[in-house]
Amino acid sequence: MKIAIILGTRPEIIKMSPLIRECEKLGIDHYILHTGQHYSFEMDKVFFDDLKLPVPRYNLDVGSGTHGQQTGRMLQGIEEVLIKDRPDVLLVQGDTNTVLAGALAGSKLNIRIGHVEAGLRSFDRTMPEEINRIIADHISDYLFAPTENSKEYLLAEGIPKEKIFVTGNTVVDAVYQNLEISKQTRHTLSKLNLKEGEYFLTTVHRAENTDKKERLSRILAGFEQIYQTFRLPIIFPAHPRTVKMIKEFDLEIPEGTKIINPVGYLDFLQLEGGAKLILTDSGGLQEEGCILGVPCVTLRDNTERPETVDVGANIIAGMNGNIAKFVERMTASGISWDNPYGSGDAAKLTIDRIIGCQIYR
Ligand code: UD1
Ligand code: UDP
Repeated sequence: MKIAIILGTRPEIIKMSPLIRECEKLGIDHYILHTGQHYSFEMDKVFFDDLKLPVPRYNLDVGSGTHGQQTGRMLQGIEEVLIKDRPDVLLVQGDTNTVLAGALAGSKLNIRIGHVEAGLRSFDRTMPEEINRIIADHISDYLFAPTENSKEYLLAEGIPKEKIFVTGNTVVDAVYQNLEISKQTRHTLSKLNLKEGEYFLTTVHRAENTDKKERLSRILAGFEQIYQTFRLPIIFPAHPRTVKMIKEFDLEIPEGTKIINPVGYLDFLQLEGGAKLILTDSGGLQEEGCILGVPCVTLRDNTERPETVDVGANIIAGMNGNIAKFVERMTASGISWDNPYGSGDAAKLTIDRIIGCQIYR
C-alpha cells in the first residue's frame, strides 16, 4: 500500500508530522507532496528541521496568489504527481487551499482520500476555510473526525457513518511528541526576557481580521487596553500576512505589544506553555492552549473548535466585544479542564484504520 501525504502550510506540516512518523514506524510506503503554499523559512522549512521530517519527494512551489490562482496551480501540479506516482490513498489535513486542491485532484482520479480533522464547522461560509473543509469532507472516503461532535456534524450533512472514524486530533500527538524535546533543548523564555505566567501570547492571521483596517486596528486597540490593565507584555509572533497588512494600513503597534518573527514549533511550544493566556484567531492555538492548560480568548465571531469553549478553556470575544474584559474573565476563572481532543494516539488510529480498510475493501 502506498500513501501520499499532501501538505502545504505551517499547521499541516505540524499536524501531519505524527502521521509521517507512524508511516515511518510501520514501514509503510509513503511520500510527502508539498504544494509550496507556505514557503518562507519561518513558515515552512523550520518545521521540517524542528520535527525532523524528511524532505518532501515533490514540492510544487505554487507560492501565494488569489484563491483561484493558488488553488488552480495546485490542482494541476498535484494531478501530475498523482498520475505519475499513484498512491492507493492520499491524506489531506484541515481546511486550507492545499486541502481543497488535494482532495479535488484525488477524487477526479478515483484515488481514495482520507481527510484528517474532518467535520469541523464554523457555520460561516464567508470563511474560505469553511468552503474548503465542507468540500473536502464530501468528496473524501475516510473522514477522521477529532471528536464525537465533529462526527455529529458530518452525519447531519448526510455522510454515511461507515466513512467516519473518531480518532482525536493529531495536534495532541504533535504536542506530546515535542513538548519534552522542546523543554530540554530550548530556552525561549529566557532568550526573550520573559517569565512564566507574566506575558500574553498572541497570533492573528485570518483574512477576516487582517484584511480590514477597522478590524485589525480594533484588535491592536484591544492589546493596548490589556497592557494598561495588566502591565504585562503581549508577545506577537506575526504571520507575514499580518506584517504586510499592518504596514499597508499604516497602523501603530501599541505600547506593550512586541512583534517578533514567527518561530519554530519547539520554541513556540515554550511560548504557549509559559503564557498567562493566549489571544488568537488560529485554530491550532485554540487547541494547543486547551491541551497545555493555558486559557484562550478567541479573536473571532465564531469557532469551529466549540469543544474548547464547552470545557471552559476558551471564550469567543467577538469583534464588537471589549477584548480586555474577556481576558480579565478568563484569567480570573482559575478553572482546569480535560482536553477533548484525545490521548495522543490519533495518528496510530488513523493509519490503523487505513490499513484495515485497504485489507477488507
Ligand atoms: C493559510 C490558510 C489558513 C491557515 C493558514 C495557516 C487558506 C485559504 N488559508 O492562510 O486557513 O490558517 O494558512 O497559517 O488556505 N506569505 C508569506 N510567506 C509564506 C506564506 C505566506 O510571506 O510562506 C504571505 C504572502 O503575502 C501571502 C499571505 O502571506 O499572500 C497569505 O498566505 P496564504 O497561504 O494565501 O494564506 P494564509 O493567510 O497563510
Ligand atoms: N506556530 C508556530 N510558530 C508560530 C506560530 C504558530 O509553530 O510562530 C504553530 C502553532 O503551534 C500551531 C500552528 O502553528 O500548531 C498554527 O498555525 P496557524 O495559526 O498558522 O494556522 P491555523 O491553525 O489557524 O490553521
